[in-house]
Amino acid sequence: MSEKKLSASQSGNVSLGQGLSVNRLGYGAMRLTGEGIWGPPKDRKGALAVLRRAVELDVQFIDTADSYGPHVNEDLIAEALYPYPPGLVIATKGGWNRPGPNQWTHDATPPHLRQAVEGSLKRLRLDRIDVYQLHTPDPVVSFDASVETLAKLRDEGKIRSVGLSNVTQEHIERARKIVPIVSVQNRYSFADREWDYVVEYCYRNSIVFIPWFPLGAGRVAGDVLQHIAKTHNATPMQVAIAWLLWRSPIMLPIPGTSSIEHLEQNVGAASLHLSEDECQKLSGVPELVGSR
Ligand SMILES: NC(=O)c1ccc[n+]([C@@H]2O[C@H](COP(=O)([O-])OP(=O)(O)OC[C@H]3O[C@@H](n4cnc5c(N)ncnc54)[C@H](OP(=O)(O)O)[C@@H]3O)[C@@H](O)[C@H]2O)c1
Repeated sequence: MSEKKLSASQSGNVSLGQGLSVNRLGYGAMRLTGEGIWGPPKDRKGALAVLRRAVELDVQFIDTADSYGPHVNEDLIAEALYPYPPGLVIATKGGWNRPGPNQWTHDATPPHLRQAVEGSLKRLRLDRIDVYQLHTPDPVVSFDASVETLAKLRDEGKIRSVGLSNVTQEHIERARKIVPIVSVQNRYSFADREWDYVVEYCYRNSIVFIPWFPLGAGRVAGDVLQHIAKTHNATPMQVAIAWLLWRSPIMLPIPGTSSIEHLEQNVGAASLHLSEDECQKLSGVPELVGSR
């Protein structure tokens, strides 16, 4: 690895529209909760320290959701970072609830989304949420009705920009007829490219693509990855992140960690430059990394 300054700014930046631009390597805060993304973290002080270190390392995009904890994650972010430094974008989500450890229930009804946005505003101590993402389409609610609600909340000034998560191209196209969509967050990594065509669609339409599970939850592995990592004196995780940054200029990876050591390694990937040949080799190896 090169000795460049440890900074997320080494990843370059990406525009989220409406005058917002962030360093392209972000941070996913979901892991800063208890087991099963439920309840408080085991090490509260450590969790607060990770968030503060991320900002020190020039991370400007932090991903969270009302369901992480639930509520715990947003509360921690505010406790660690409020008043927020200029340029920090907190992207939260709603419409998918966490009633117990490892459980999910849908609720993207208009009244719930409205209530969810109000709750996130309060917990994050914000007057307006920079990026609010529909966490996932609700199978028993009209997708258009969910998006129309977010559009209204945007018109009311409670949301600056609207993002989507866990969606197909058709969803994005439908949503864009209602409101500008600045970001799409789907599961994606070098070893998991089901959503390649959505990455391409986002690129063509200048929509930021936020890959969740970018490290296969710390299990990204494989011979090619190991070999390339060794060549660069880097870790396989760093190579996985560097590949994502190479994959498209609209890519905004949000690797998650509860460890300062891992956070620093992940930010270090912003200065890891892989050759075209290495990236092509990685692109040709869709290895399975296991499920969440
Ligand atoms: N939209 C959605 O539906 C959705 C779903 C899931 C996640 N997300 C978002 O995406 C973010 C990232 O996804 P994710 O957390 O599921 O998966 P991930 O980033 O692929 O992996 C995180 C896991 O990898 C480990 N890890 C991180 N850096 C490491 C390193 N350098 N070396 C070794 N292990 C490392 C972490 O453990 P340690 O804590 O020990 O470092 C953690 O268990 C989440 O935080 C969340 O914001 C969104």
